[in-house]
Amino acid sequence: MNKEQRDEVFNHAKEWIYEAGKEIRDQIHAPLVVDTKSNPNDLVTTMDKATEEFFTKKIKDTFPHHFILSEEGYGDNLKSMNGTVWIIDPIDGTMNFVHQKRNFAISIGIYYDGVGEIGFIYNVMEDILYSAKKGEGVYKNNDKLPRLRKNIPFNETMLSLNHFWLCENRLVDEKVMQKLVKDVRGARTYGSAALEFAYVAEGIIDTYLTLSLSPWDYAAGIVIVNEVGGVTTTVDGDAINMLHKSSVVTGNRGIQQTILNDYVKTARK
Ligand code: IPD
Ligand code: CA
Ligand code: CA
Repeated sequence: MNKEQRDEVFNHAKEWIYEAGKEIRDQIHAPLVVDTKSNPNDLVTTMDKATEEFFTKKIKDTFPHHFILSEEGYGDNLKSMNGTVWIIDPIDGTMNFVHQKRNFAISIGIYYDGVGEIGFIYNVMEDILYSAKKGEGVYKNNDKLPRLRKNIPFNETMLSLNHFWLCENRLVDEKVMQKLVKDVRGARTYGSAALEFAYVAEGIIDTYLTLSLSPWDYAAGIVIVNEVGGVTTTVDGDAINMLHKSSVVTGNRGIQQTILNDYVKTARK
């Protein structure tokens, strides 16, 4: 994708995100139909579906040769990352959307032949848009974010993680993860993977780790964290595959390595 193409796609996506976000805000107190998917706590609402349908229609009308990978079933059934692929989570943090009416985001990553070109994470209720184009850094609304700080002492680290790490489970030794939570300065769980990536990019948390996410949870975040000098891998330290679910460790380079080597690798069973 050359700069001209990237700018054109970016400008359309940004306009549609603002339009979709305004619709969500306008309807925030309207009655919702809430269904469940894989388990009773895996929620989906009419707004998740309507928002995804809105994006897929706009994309197919404007860029008929682009592909879509998305959560709620309006996208394509993709077997490869060839060409331009929009990876869309219409509402990331649906549980927050339903229960709190805040702390959720629209997340869109746009890839060309498997390379992250554009990332958007839109905190809808706060009207804060994190955006990135490959090679051009990250903006929080109109302000360019600085690159991530280096050499943060580990005991001053802010960590974000899914609390399932701390429960007894088959995959990790929770005692090691409990030590991690004690060793860092503070631990948080926000309930929206996309926002957690955005907070890493902003430097208000230093690392985020989770055992299992889907491509639409991290496609935008990876581009955004990358553009401020951060790094994202699986818990085994491998690159993330956009066509499958994955574990994720993202953040400031040095801290990400310490967490992988000194904690996560030992904790894995
Ligand atoms: C979820 C959120 C949550 C994460 C879950 C995701 P959804 O996305 O990102 O923070 O822990 O694994 O599924 O379902 O609200 O789009
Ligand atoms: Ca999600
Ligand atoms: Ca979602």
